Amino acid sequence: MSGMIYQQEATGLSSPRRHVDRMRINGGKALSGRIELKGAKNLVTKAMVASLLGDGVSVLRDVPDISDVEVVSGLLELHGVSITAGTEPGEMILDPSRVELAHMAEINAYAGDSRIPILFCGPLLHRLGEAFIPDLGGCRIGSRPIDFHLDALRNFGARVEKLPEGIRMTAPERLHGAKIELKYPSVGTTEQVLLTAVRAEGTTELKGAAIEPEIMDLIAILQKMGAIISVDTDRVIRIEGVDRLSGYSHRALFDRNEAASWAAAALATEGDIFVGGALQKDMTTFLNVYRKVGGAFDIADDGIRFYHPGHALKSVVIETDVHPGFMTDWQQPLVVALTRAEGISIVHETVYENRFGFTDALVKMGAQIQLYRECLGGHPCRFGQRNFQHSAVISGPTELHGADVVVPDLRGGFSHFVAALAAEGTSNISNVGIISRGYEHFIGKLDQLGADFDVTA
Ligand code: EPZ
Repeated sequence: MSGMIYQQEATGLSSPRRHVDRMRINGGKALSGRIELKGAKNLVTKAMVASLLGDGVSVLRDVPDISDVEVVSGLLELHGVSITAGTEPGEMILDPSRVELAHMAEINAYAGDSRIPILFCGPLLHRLGEAFIPDLGGCRIGSRPIDFHLDALRNFGARVEKLPEGIRMTAPERLHGAKIELKYPSVGTTEQVLLTAVRAEGTTELKGAAIEPEIMDLIAILQKMGAIISVDTDRVIRIEGVDRLSGYSHRALFDRNEAASWAAAALATEGDIFVGGALQKDMTTFLNVYRKVGGAFDIADDGIRFYHPGHALKSVVIETDVHPGFMTDWQQPLVVALTRAEGISIVHETVYENRFGFTDALVKMGAQIQLYRECLGGHPCRFGQRNFQHSAVISGPTELHGADVVVPDLRGGFSHFVAALAAEGTSNISNVGIISRGYEHFIGKLDQLGADFDVTA
């Protein structure tokens, strides 16, 4: 992963960019103003892969200008998909009429930048009978195995061969429907099953599925393409395979993770941010916690205003979980706000075993945070009897001071920015490139919100 961030301009899909690696933040200033969201990173990249399944052209709107989208665009182009910008900013046109196999070496050139390549398998096996997965990257927040994905693909009839340079898959015959039960409601594996089952022969039943809003939006896209998918109660999804699918035209759902990040930034910096495009219905769990902490919000038709109430914040107990629980991607920026709350807060991380590395930097900045191996404050989780520091106890209120920190991963990195913006004094943040994986026009938005910063390299 490059340590550079792209300094972007809001001009559409192929905006001019300048690489930025280090930033200096002069903290202690409230963030205030309005920013606009685009489509969710965790839907858009999958929707782009879904275009491989169609006979015709797909049109995706509200595509954010982030590096994860660039990586997936590059991978699709390697496989013969033509990608062009549409007429409105953020509109992408994907033409899969000339899909072809890519060379392993070329695919590997993209390895380490994204976990999305694994989702190419089902569509490529349907179209070409062959697929290749490089060494997978993504944020380093746990071991992030792919065993559920490989088991599911084998169930559909794929042959899986491990090679030194990655994993090769073949489909000697048309893939067939399967009965699959997940041990944990994995988002990526649910998407894998959807993208593979829609064109497999016969019916697929997936038990223990993830049901995040991004998955529901992917199902909506697949239905537009001609798929037959029903979501039953108790995390069961049934898919009746069809022989062919068409292209789609779709506006991506908003990025609720980015919305939650800026909401936390408003609280931690005692600011006031209107997040244009945020929708209450996909954020109710977050809004409940925000209110319990003492954060204020006003819901409008075109977004949500998040702001500090002007009095002390309260401590809370949070347990991250799959949807409809409190998302794992929401906890990191909110932890910064909790350092300012009165009393002891507890965050029990139950989705990833190793997602508190970012707190080291907050401690360096004056926060009082202790990590524990035990499952604190909630239900025992699958990491409890193992050696993972997956519960955090935050004592507040503390005053944060500036420090030199290195961005470790996407959400942890955002929390470092929030802390630096809230802190007294100057912070130097390096390796900021990771932020451009998931936050569109990050530097421009900081500027719009009145942050005091310099780009130092
Ligand atoms: C998606 O990751 C998101 N990434 C993550 O967002 C998000 O945190 C996560 O879902 C949970 O909501 C994208 O959509 C690109 P999982 P994914 O499969 O699909 C275990 C961000 O910052 N597991 O639901 O990779 C796994 O180790 C990112 O935007 C297996 O054991 O997550 C984890 O503990 C980070 N075997 C749990 O399941 C497998 O084969 C949930 O992972 C697959 C997963």
